[in-house]
Amino acid sequence: MAPVFRAAEGGLFSCVEKADVGASYQELERQGVALMGWADPFMPDHSMPDFVEDAYAKAARRESAAHYTAPIGSPELKAEIAKKLRRQNGLDVDPERNILITPGSDSGLFFAILPFIQPGDEVIIPSPSYPNNFLDVRIAGGVPVAVELKAENGYQLDPEALQAAITPKTKMVLLTHPNNPTTTVFNRASLEALSKIIIDNDLVLVCDQAFEDFTYENEMITPAALPGMFERTVTVFSFSKGMGFSGLRVGYIVCCDSIMDPLFATAVAVVGATSTAAQQAATVALQNPGFMKQFETAYDKRRHRAVEILNSVPGVHVILPESGFLCWVDVSELGDSTEIAAYLTAEARVSVNDGKNYGQGGAGHLRIVLGVYRDDERVFAALESIRDALLRYKK
Ligand SMILES: Cc1ncc(COP(=O)(O)O)c(C=O)c1O
Repeated sequence: MAPVFRAAEGGLFSCVEKADVGASYQELERQGVALMGWADPFMPDHSMPDFVEDAYAKAARRESAAHYTAPIGSPELKAEIAKKLRRQNGLDVDPERNILITPGSDSGLFFAILPFIQPGDEVIIPSPSYPNNFLDVRIAGGVPVAVELKAENGYQLDPEALQAAITPKTKMVLLTHPNNPTTTVFNRASLEALSKIIIDNDLVLVCDQAFEDFTYENEMITPAALPGMFERTVTVFSFSKGMGFSGLRVGYIVCCDSIMDPLFATAVAVVGATSTAAQQAATVALQNPGFMKQFETAYDKRRHRAVEILNSVPGVHVILPESGFLCWVDVSELGDSTEIAAYLTAEARVSVNDGKNYGQGGAGHLRIVLGVYRDDERVFAALESIRDALLRYKK
């Protein structure tokens, strides 16, 4: 077995609890612990809009539901995605050539990285970052190189630090934008500097935009739309976070012809095909995205309230989340984040993520998912339990 698989932690027989998955999570739920470590909109409550649910049910009853679409995805869905890319991302692409549908964006992300990595190649990952970024690179045989995002820079990119991390082995920058866990929406200065580095050093950018939909007062720029970047960027998108149907498993990859050509050629081996009925439901959802406004209003209210509640604890520092429904909490003045996360499960009856799961710069922090439950009050009550427990916390 390849060493990277043998060394993987968090499996059936290891005691490590991974960031946000695992049987132990179900056990916590059974015990009545509030699960605020799982980035799944409104979980465990109803999230899929009724008209999408109806479309999905109808699609499941059609004969086609029992059959594959092409491995690269349904033409109807790709046509809708092309319209969305034009209106939301500033990308004008050919749906037949530049879009590939994937069963969620986790598999899309891995597929996007795979063609560019040979053993020993280095991938720069601005961190803290989505844990799969590190694992994907390792599974592909590459070496993740973390470049730390600093709170004092608002977690924006530091071009000098990025440039300094480049070696002859560097092949790629892997960016989660907006970032999970810090929620950072990378600004124009950051992304223009990054583009220059990518172009000057002949690198590829893989940009994961799973959290692109709710960026509040921040401008969401798609790096692939910046000058000279479309040819060098593979962008990965998801229906899970913005549209609230993670369980349907639909995502997509967007890139230029020359990168897409080998992805199309290998899609059948790597992704197989995405669920036919799920693609039909996603098509209908994209035709009527207005329902997402309601999600945004809920998350917006929650992020303001979270900052208010958590910042009232001396030694705890939270900046207003810039996107989505996560909250990145600095508890380093109180103690060790692993111990604090375990303490909160026991004392506040709330499960959150230890920042150490997110790589360099993550220690001393907690990630709290504000996007759980339909009922805002339930979220606020859980945040108040966290606050009360932290006020009692002794190192
Ligand atoms: C940053 C980021 N990218 C991608 C994903 C994968 O989402 P999905 O496979 O549901 O599209 C997640 C899920 O947590 C995520 O946080």
